[in-house]
Amino acid sequence: MNAESRARLDRIPEWTALAEHRDQLGEVQLRELFAADPARGTAYTLQVGDLHIDYSKHLVTDETLRLLRDLAAATDVFGLRDAMFRGEKINTTEDRAVLHTALRAPREAVVEVDGENVVPAVHAVLDKMSSFSEKVRSGEWTGHTGKRIKNVVNIGIGGSDLGPAMAYEALRSFTDRGLTVRFVSNVDGADLHEAVRDLDAAETLFIIASKTFTTIETITNATSARDWLLTELKAGQDAVAKHFVALSTNAEKVSEFGIDTANMFEFWDWVGGRYSYDSAIGLSLMIAIGPDRFREMLDGFHLVDEHFRTAPAESNVPLLMGLLGIWYGNFHDAQSHAVLPYSHYLSKFTAYLQQLDMESNGKYVDRDGKEVDWQTGPVVWGTPGTNGQHAYYQLIHQGTKLIPADFIGFAEPVADLLPGLVAQHDLLMANFFAQTQALAFGKTPDEVRAEGVAEELVPHKTFKGNHPTTTILAKELTPSVLGQLIALYEHKVFVQGAVWNIDSFDQWGVELGKVLAKRVEPALTEGAEVPDLDGSTTALVAKYRDLRGR
Ligand code: F6P
Repeated sequence: MNAESRARLDRIPEWTALAEHRDQLGEVQLRELFAADPARGTAYTLQVGDLHIDYSKHLVTDETLRLLRDLAAATDVFGLRDAMFRGEKINTTEDRAVLHTALRAPREAVVEVDGENVVPAVHAVLDKMSSFSEKVRSGEWTGHTGKRIKNVVNIGIGGSDLGPAMAYEALRSFTDRGLTVRFVSNVDGADLHEAVRDLDAAETLFIIASKTFTTIETITNATSARDWLLTELKAGQDAVAKHFVALSTNAEKVSEFGIDTANMFEFWDWVGGRYSYDSAIGLSLMIAIGPDRFREMLDGFHLVDEHFRTAPAESNVPLLMGLLGIWYGNFHDAQSHAVLPYSHYLSKFTAYLQQLDMESNGKYVDRDGKEVDWQTGPVVWGTPGTNGQHAYYQLIHQGTKLIPADFIGFAEPVADLLPGLVAQHDLLMANFFAQTQALAFGKTPDEVRAEGVAEELVPHKTFKGNHPTTTILAKELTPSVLGQLIALYEHKVFVQGAVWNIDSFDQWGVELGKVLAKRVEPALTEGAEVPDLDGSTTALVAKYRDLRGR
């Protein structure tokens, strides 16, 4: 897209109006906002699909929200959104379309890239994945020795790992419990070691997931996995075909590695790595949950895509979530954003969001390459409740930093939970509700005194409150709900990137480290010459060699 240079964000009237509004609001108190509007707890809510969104505990008024929407209009967020859905090349630095939304489009939809409808190809790959998944699940697909596949090991990193690994955990109760599914990403050999050490190679399928098929970690692990398999099976190269499949955009490299391209599941350059787990990259997940559940998940994504594409600004949830993040990041100096799921099954959800958000919006130049003068993407962090409550919540409650947080919870425990554990769900959810309450409303010194607390302890036991949170509540964590949640965050990230005028779809910041690792690696071997590195790295390399006796 040849976007015309935009006016500097922090000089447009809509931005200045927000800055002035922030000054006028001062230290507005949530207690006051709720006292002034008893209906706030129901009025400041939205519904999208199965997700109930409560944003009443935010430091905003109707005026704030109006001004934020004005900012979105002035920065043409919906214009860029429409360009994305139309398949325009909005990833300007890589000259690529951004069409993860096409991955979950229904069969009859038409989405064009360079004049070609990509939806038939998307569904052809989904059909091929379904047929393969069914073969593995039914036992029809056997290994080289004729044994049924019981173990699936996905080897990939970043977007080729985090998505399926997160979703596999999230949807464990929907998985075929007879299958062992593991995810290997780290180039630390310990990762692969732990994943395969107790597996029977004859029953193991490796899925090599790499968009580029050049990522050093993945290719190294894939090569080691192949060596392990052939050694264990005491077999030749011909055993690879039944134990290795590839998920990639790069048929040439897949073939070079020795995987038959008939066993390759394709995707396209218009799918960003961190937006790819609903593409072929989701094969391990599809094998685990089955094609029907996978489709339900895609439909969940699509539902939120349609909401984002069509809902007016006032009720557009990803827009709202993106704008709230901007309100805190740009007008309250918040540096981070916590995502706190009250579901053990979402244990990898925040780690997944870290790549989605931080790789997308961790940028310091705008679309025109000019350095921005405003804050961009936040540090995203968090772990499932209630564990965090006994670790870092202290800092959220009583620290000196403003940390906006999303709380995600479910009314029902998963369907196959041991009956004896179902009662625990209310306790989990009581904590969920209590935390956002405590964060918002705190405890005043007078309330502390009224409990008879000694005066010198009053400040220690006072909770200032006023910590903003969004609550996302759904009935249960199903494949569709997971898809809805992920699409919500994808589009939230989109909204923020659009306002900040950055390219949310490239990731040049990961390149330098890769290049330097290639330079350093040879220097670690015995007797090798150490190239001209900086003083610190030279000394560290020398120390490493010394410790290893090299
Ligand atoms: O290095 C970053 C990155 O390019 C991510 O964006 C991507 O998800 C990951 O590496 C893995 O890349 P690939 O799927 O090409 O192996």
